[in-house]
Order: sequence, then C-alpha cells, then structure tokens
Amino acid sequence: MNYKLIIAEKIAKAAELNVDDVQKLIEIPPKPEMGDFAFPCFQLAKVFRKAPNLIAQELSEKIDKDGLEKVETVGGYLNFFVDKASFSKGVIEKILTEGENYGHSKIGEGKTVTIDFSSPNIAKPFHVGHLCSTAIGNSLYKILSSQGYNCVGINHLGDWGTQFGKLIAAYERWVDEEALQKEPIKELLRIYVKFHDEAEKDPSLEDIARQHFKNLEDGHEKEVKLWQKIKDVSLMEFNRIYDMLNIKFDSYAGESFYNDKMDAVVEELKQKNLLVESKGAQVVNLDEYNMPPCIILKADGASIYATRDLAAAIYRKKTYDFYKNIYVVGMDQSLHFKQVFTTLKLMGYDWADNCVHVGFGLVKFADKKLSTRKGDVIFLEDLLNEGIARAKQAIEEKNPSLENKDEVAKKVGLGAVIFTYLKNNREREIIFNFDDILSFDGETGPYVQYSYARAKSILRRAEEEKSTASADFTKLSSQEEFELVKLLASFNEAILLSIEKYEPSIVTRYIIDVAKAFNKFYNLCPILSCEDEGLKAARLKLVEASTYVIKNGLALLGIDVVEKM
Ligand code: ARG
Repeated sequence: MNYKLIIAEKIAKAAELNVDDVQKLIEIPPKPEMGDFAFPCFQLAKVFRKAPNLIAQELSEKIDKDGLEKVETVGGYLNFFVDKASFSKGVIEKILTEGENYGHSKIGEGKTVTIDFSSPNIAKPFHVGHLCSTAIGNSLYKILSSQGYNCVGINHLGDWGTQFGKLIAAYERWVDEEALQKEPIKELLRIYVKFHDEAEKDPSLEDIARQHFKNLEDGHEKEVKLWQKIKDVSLMEFNRIYDMLNIKFDSYAGESFYNDKMDAVVEELKQKNLLVESKGAQVVNLDEYNMPPCIILKADGASIYATRDLAAAIYRKKTYDFYKNIYVVGMDQSLHFKQVFTTLKLMGYDWADNCVHVGFGLVKFADKKLSTRKGDVIFLEDLLNEGIARAKQAIEEKNPSLENKDEVAKKVGLGAVIFTYLKNNREREIIFNFDDILSFDGETGPYVQYSYARAKSILRRAEEEKSTASADFTKLSSQEEFELVKLLASFNEAILLSIEKYEPSIVTRYIIDVAKAFNKFYNLCPILSCEDEGLKAARLKLVEASTYVIKNGLALLGIDVVEKM
C-alpha cells in the first residue's frame, strides 16, 4: 500500500494525466498543517492554460475523497490530509505482513550492478579510506539487492606494481617469518620501509628490485611464489577484517587479474587511432575534455593503473553485462575515473555512460591517541577493536548484568563505527571521535540500536501479559503516532532516493528520523500502562512495526541490531 501512489492515482484520474508523472510531482510538506501530501499545480499551468490556483480549485472538487480526511487548496497547491485511521491501519498491517521484507521491491530485477569496493593494496595497511569504501560499497550492495538488483561485489585488489620488486628484495633479506605469520601487514610494511632506508645508502638495491619485478612479470617461479605468498598473508589479514564486519565479495579479481588482458586494450586503442606518443609514453589525448592525457603505457612500456581499469571495465561488461558499473573510491581519484570513462567513450563504448564513480571525502581523527599511535597510518583493525572495547566499557557501566556482553559489545562497537561512516553525505569530511560516535543519545549507531532494544523489551513484556484485545487503529490519533506511521510508510522511498544518488546516508538519516519519532511516541504515549485495551494493542503493533523498519534499515547499512543492551 503506497499512499503516494494512491493519491497520484486520484489526481491522475481527476486531471486525466499519467500516474507516473503525477507521482513524481507529489511532495511531502514540511509541516503537518500543510497536509500529509501536497501536489503543486504550477507545472500544469502551461498544459491547461490556466492559473495554478484555479487548477487546484477545480481538481479539489473532482478528486475522489475516499480514504481522505480532506483536500485543501492553498495557492497553487493541493494539500491532502489522509484519513488517519485507515492510513495507519494500512501501513502497520503491511509492515507486519511483510516483516523482514518490508521496504524491499523488485524494481531492479533482471539488472546487474557491479560494485567495485574496498579494494585495498596488498602488503599495505587497510586504512580508513578503505573502510569508507568498504562501508559504502557494502551498503550499496545491500540497498540495491533489496530492490531486486543482481549485485556483483568486486574487490579490485591492488596486487600488482613495481613495489612488488622491492618487497621481494626486502623479503629475501630481512623478513622475520614469525612476525609475518602473526601480523603480516605490519611486517611487510616494516621491511618495505627498511628497503627504502637501505636503498638510500646502497642504490644498487633499486636495480635488484627492478630485476625482481621484471622476473615477476615474465613469470619466473621464485618471484611468482613470493608474490603469491605476500598476497596470501595480506589477504589473510584483510579477511579477518571482512569476517569481523561480515562482508563478502563475489570476486577478488584485482589488478594482476588483468595482466593478460591489457595487450588487447592497447591494440584496440591503437587500431582506433587513440594512442599518441608523449615524452616517450603512450597516451590518450583528452585536451578536448579539458583533462590531462590518460597514460596507457609508460616510457618503459609498463602498463599502469588506468590501463588496468580500462581492461577491467571491458571485462566486466563482457562478463556481467552490467546495467551500472560502480566504483566506490575516494574523491582523490575523481580525475582518474573521468579519464578512464572518457577513454572508454572514445573507444566507442556507449556503456561508459553507465560507469559511475561513487566518491567520498576524507576522514579526520579528533582522537589524538589514535592518530599518533603508529606514525601516520591508522590500522583499521585497531580502530575497530577500540570501538568494541569502548562499547564493552559502556555496557559494563550501564547494564553490568546483561547476557552475552561480548557479542553485544561487538555489534554496538562495530555498528557505531560503520554508522559514522554512513551518516553524512559521502563527499563530506568525517570527523571521527569515539566519545561522540558511541554516545547513546546523539545521532549515533548506539542510539538507534538502543531504540530498537527498548522497543523489543516493550514487546517482550506485552507478550508476557498474553492479552487478546484486538487493535483499534481509529484510536491512534495523536500527532506523535501519526508522524511515526507516516515516516514508517516512506521507507521504500528513502531507499529509492539513496539508490538514485548512490548515497547510503539517505537511509542512515531516515533510520535516525525513525528512531527519533519512535522515542517521541514512546515518551509521550503510554503503551504498557495504557488503559484502553484497543488503543494499547494498536500502539503495540506500531511498536512492532517500528522494530521491523529499524532492523531492516540497519541491515541495509550492514549493521546488526541487538535484542537487549
Ligand atoms: N587500490 C586502490 C587504492 O587503494 C583502489 C582501487 C579502486 N578500484 C579501481 N578499479 N581502480 O587506492
């Protein structure tokens, strides 16, 4: 039951217009006095050759009022006031029937979306920027899947490049195998840094590294084996983080996967007369688009990041025939993606228009302790563990007798971190401060999880009472109840908007609003102590409906709920 659609149908019928066009124009007014839905008649003035207020007037008389309390005209607007009782009943019953599927739809069926996300670099720390990509990408995956899209999550690992020559040279000289097994990335980072220190004293090391990389490219057994080992131990560590966050990928085809697919791209570019020489390198000129050239082959013949992305995009189109091909990568790579997409277009691939760079901004740490502990890099695992430890501490203080404290702390701590990453418009800078993100009463993960647990506890207590009264929805008449119902009704709309803008924060903000509206309702309307049995039963159904929306909403962000906290 989609009220917007019902109203759109009424208007469309009265005005003899197309329902879809009408639905797009319907607004949700900022204040309840202005109605539950509003239809602006300004755009119709041209079609009907009449003043908008006249059109509104005429339509208001023609419209079928069934299910509506009243229709008012204000200037060029038609304001609709729905019949609260039938609206509330319809919405709540729909939610309770659909349960964990409430909010979902099938509009994406038959369409595949490839999502390139997380994509850390082997032998380097999984840093906070990668967590942004991981959280946003994972959420988009879930959001799109909820609407029936077939999603393919791709971890485009940075597993190729000249740095592997250096790593191999360093490995052979200085690796501590024990440390490597225990904390692979830290050990790889240590020997990599050592390589640079030593190479300053002894430049011949650079030549050795270059030779190793050349051997690696030529498939020499020793180098390939070491590269594979470095990759394996790095993945072991990355997988620990993915497991912790319960994140899965459908493909780990990283940069090295395209080694044997790039010659064809270079050949194709040549044939299409797109390659020109510039300072010894082969590039695609993008002057016309006010961009620096896209470098395809460096002067030494080595292919680079962009070439791999061209090969990857073509491969993805062939393999998955995507409807959209999304890259969740920091905005510092905006130019790179513009160059790649433009080059694809120049190659004659119109589907380049379906490639989307979903960028995000920087993360800043207000917490001094975190940002200085290990030099410049923040190890993500440390950050997550710190979140869990602090959540545990808060639980010990607030609810020391809680069962499975560790499990709850894990869900709350990780939830708080992820929530922070998904709360603001993704292009905005994130200021990360543990005290704020773990607070139970800000716009935080714990606040939402707590609202859910609170609702669940009411439902548990009601269950014990074994009341058989049936819900009387005509009694849900307070402002707080109706605002909550209306909000619950617009879940799917929030999801669709977040898809349109590739913006999980629209869902996050929506859940915050639901939690706030729920708490307002909870604080102002007695539930368990309500004396009117029919009203009490209706309120309990509203509580239950709210729990589904919060749970389903958090699931789209990759955050678990807790039944008690
Ligand atoms: N590994 C890259 C980095 O850490 C991100 C890769 C993004 N994906 C891509 N197809 N270029 O910066």
